[in-house]
Amino acid sequence: MKSKKLSIFLLGPGNVGKELLKLIIENKLTLEQNYDLDIRITGIFNSKYGINNKEGIHPDQVNNICSGLTLTSDTITSDNLPNLISHNPKPSILIDTTSSPVSFDILLTALKSGSFVVLSNKRPLASSYSVFHKLHSYGLNRIFYETTVGAGLPVIRTVNTFMETGDEILEIKGCFSGTLGFIFSSLEDGMPFSKCVEQAKKMGYTESDPREDLSGQDVARKIIILSRMIGMEIEMEDIEVQKLYPSSFDKYTVKEFMGVISKLDKKYQEKFQKANKRNNTFRYVAKVSKKGCTIKMTEAAKNSDLGNLSGPDNIIIFKTKRYFDRPLVIKGPGAGPIVTAAGVFDDIISIIKIIHGV
Ligand SMILES: NC(=O)c1ccc[n+]([C@@H]2O[C@H](COP(=O)([O-])OP(=O)(O)OC[C@H]3O[C@@H](n4cnc5c(N)ncnc54)[C@H](OP(=O)(O)O)[C@@H]3O)[C@@H](O)[C@H]2O)c1
Repeated sequence: MKSKKLSIFLLGPGNVGKELLKLIIENKLTLEQNYDLDIRITGIFNSKYGINNKEGIHPDQVNNICSGLTLTSDTITSDNLPNLISHNPKPSILIDTTSSPVSFDILLTALKSGSFVVLSNKRPLASSYSVFHKLHSYGLNRIFYETTVGAGLPVIRTVNTFMETGDEILEIKGCFSGTLGFIFSSLEDGMPFSKCVEQAKKMGYTESDPREDLSGQDVARKIIILSRMIGMEIEMEDIEVQKLYPSSFDKYTVKEFMGVISKLDKKYQEKFQKANKRNNTFRYVAKVSKKGCTIKMTEAAKNSDLGNLSGPDNIIIFKTKRYFDRPLVIKGPGAGPIVTAAGVFDDIISIIKIIHGV
């Protein structure tokens, strides 16, 4: 008989959420043995429906849910979600793998009721500074969000380690978007901009509306999280973000937008050709320092850390007081449901260690 029960409640069984449920089921027994725990998945909800069972949802039922949540005799609507979450047996972890801008209240309900929270969803942390602050007001060891920046890459924990060991972060610079990395690599190979975007969309790299990526908003959300972690009380409007298309294209539907972006082909082709003559290329670079945050197309030598980057990889370069002459570099896949789910799972293991008292 295990001494403690742990309840896991998941919001957002999408690409990342489904991979995560698989990981939990596959590794449950080992974790239970290592940490003397009885791990139960007690809730799984999308925006409309879900399933709740305080005794634990059977793995077969979890697998069924992963093939699509609809209203059946086993499911309920999500109307009563705050109540279910606050009464989820403790210790418990609420996981937000949604893409919802409105999960803040639910996260707060969970924290207030004593639950831990893990997010891959950037939006609550990237909304106003007061929301960010409130989510952290229950203690740093109650909220985990490694995968909100760089997916499975250890970016958030590196920032935390710098802060906790008394280093001073002077600058964080890098390419934080796998989608834009893919597009810029393809532009460098001579592909027209419109084709790059079409292909990125076809391969599932872009959001359903590629302007989410091309506007720099997704990168800005990551940058605001990092800036706030290092003590900057900033809001979205304080970040200087370069859009990769003219604002006049904002009025179009996605279909219309995809129809007009070829107007930008010549401009991008000329830029990349000119840079190529200088043995340079362009990257979509974000920079954070106490002076402020910028996100823009930046020319980089092809043989530099930034210029070397290929395809959808991310690179994050930390210049600190200790890592001054040779900054610390983290590089690798910064997107994808498998690496992201593994990062969320790692946050869950960190919480299990806290519960176990390791
Ligand atoms: N995929 C990646 O590589 C990656 C990497 C790092 C971070 N992330 C972040 O991780 C999150 C999930 O990504 P994903 O690729 O798995 O997205 P996804 O496939 O679109 O899944 C999102 C899931 O959230 C559900 N959902 C939406 N609003 C909800 C709400 N209010 N309450 C409960 N469930 C809700 C959706 O279901 P319905 O809309 O059908 O209800 C869907 O099941 C996103 O925030 C993304 O930015 C993703």
